[in-house]
Amino acid sequence: MIGRLNHVAIAVADIAAAAELYRGTLGAQVSEPKALPEHGVTTIFVDLPNTRIELLEPLGEQSPIAGFLARNPDGGIHHLCYEVADIEAACRRLVAAGARILGDGRPKTGAHGKPVIFLHPKDFAGTLVELEQA
Ligand code: CO
Repeated sequence: MIGRLNHVAIAVADIAAAAELYRGTLGAQVSEPKALPEHGVTTIFVDLPNTRIELLEPLGEQSPIAGFLARNPDGGIHHLCYEVADIEAACRRLVAAGARILGDGRPKTGAHGKPVIFLHPKDFAGTLVELEQA
């Protein structure tokens, strides 16, 4: 069911410093920061030949990554995003398998304007998994 690795998301307290690390020290192609108030994050994408890295910095009081950064003040890998061809079919298959979809269980429009869901880390080897319709 899952296809390509769309991105690895890394939560950071200082996105400018993280972007400079990827641009300067690691020599990668790095996008401009984009504020996504409806998602409570500012994002920067690092383009790699085979996937992307999504840098996430909290934005606003209710950021969904605030708790993660409180537990991981140096930052850390927050989630992996896999592509699926059909998000509704993916939801049906996951629910039938007993996996928990976070939130109300319905796909939402993600950071790239495509439908996404997040799966409970306790059901997926301790990893927060995002599925994005390709
Ligand atoms: Co993501």
